[in-house]
Amino acid sequence: MVKTNPHFQQLDADYFFFNIEKRIASQKELYPKEHFLNLGIGDVSKPLVSSVSQAIALAAQEMSCKTTMQGYGPSQGYSFLKQAIKDHEYKTLPITPEEIFISSGTKNDTANILDIFSPKSRIALANPTYPVYRDTTVMSGRGGIKRNNGNYTRIVYLNCSEKNGFKPPFPQKPVDLVYLCSPNNPTGTALTFEECQQWVDFAQKHRIVLLFDSAYEAFITAHNVPHSIFEVPGADEVAIEFKSFSKSAGFTGLRCSYMIIPQKLRSEEGHSLWELWTRRQSTKYGGTSYPIQKGALATYTEQGQKEIREILTYYKQNASLLQEGLGSLGFKTYGGVNAPYIWVKAPKKLSSWSFFDILLEKTRIVAIPGSGFGSMGEGYMRFSAFADREAIQKALERLKDLKL
Ligand SMILES: Cc1ncc(COP(=O)(O)O)c(C=O)c1O
Repeated sequence: MVKTNPHFQQLDADYFFFNIEKRIASQKELYPKEHFLNLGIGDVSKPLVSSVSQAIALAAQEMSCKTTMQGYGPSQGYSFLKQAIKDHEYKTLPITPEEIFISSGTKNDTANILDIFSPKSRIALANPTYPVYRDTTVMSGRGGIKRNNGNYTRIVYLNCSEKNGFKPPFPQKPVDLVYLCSPNNPTGTALTFEECQQWVDFAQKHRIVLLFDSAYEAFITAHNVPHSIFEVPGADEVAIEFKSFSKSAGFTGLRCSYMIIPQKLRSEEGHSLWELWTRRQSTKYGGTSYPIQKGALATYTEQGQKEIREILTYYKQNASLLQEGLGSLGFKTYGGVNAPYIWVKAPKKLSSWSFFDILLEKTRIVAIPGSGFGSMGEGYMRFSAFADREAIQKALERLKDLKL
């Protein structure tokens, strides 16, 4: 009789978003005429820009012509896109196109990268965190057993709180891999150049590999926040970087991302991580489709850059509006400056879920309970700048009248 992967039994039931949907549905049923405002949205809300959709359509036409059709593509990505990424994102950095791997999403990349590391690797991650890092660690058998508080015995948690400005502290136990997310989901904070340097120094000293997720890099506005971990000297000996077209160019439904694995990066045994990942991809990944890579390429044309900048500016202005608006209403907020997320402390020591219910029932506003991102998220809510401007303005109006 077939047996399943026992580590899946350690996972939490995936009821968090289900619970949110259930509560919203029940309120909508009770008050069908009310207008609900969704400020929880973690997906882009603006449609694809025309330079990208046109490039995809053109590439699809190429596929239907004998002389221009493409079959299987390279599993590491087409060189036209790798070169464009090098020229635009890593122009002044010592990253080569060969060190860039095109893929179909940072979600899967940050999960799949664990394939090349020892099953015994100890993993550290922030609490609260993007849940994929935690669940994928558990699925791969590196999480250990789930404790009553929801934490796992083999995961080293880097607790983020108001005290440390929601910046992950260094692990106090030996670890092999650290997931870092900057700009951060859910707290909206970002690591400065200096803080990244400290992480690189720490990783060099303790021979750790940093898994640096920069899916929200396009939202950085501060000058002291690097746009790539490789701006930090020494990072090419200790870091793997993950970036995505999802949030920067509205590719959440198209799927295109990339990873940087420097050739210098070695394991303790001296194995090249670049070689292992190349090997892994050539076996398990068939490559991102040609039309989608052509669409991604179009984001680097002059017109593509202009169109994308307009949308990013819209989201960034939303973030400022929300952050300033919530702040002026007396809410304690974090993030929003370098990220599309605003991390809001629940007033009067309310739990995340109690605050969620109050917002939903009294103001018809939806935000995401922070406790869904880990135990340290309890007492917080994540608001998102991906909502429509009008919804944000209305929400701020409604919150003026909220009596707690
Ligand atoms: C921190 C973080 N990384 C990665 C992703 C997913 O990126 P992609 O759409 O490229 O899979 C998300 C999506 O919400 C995210 O919040």
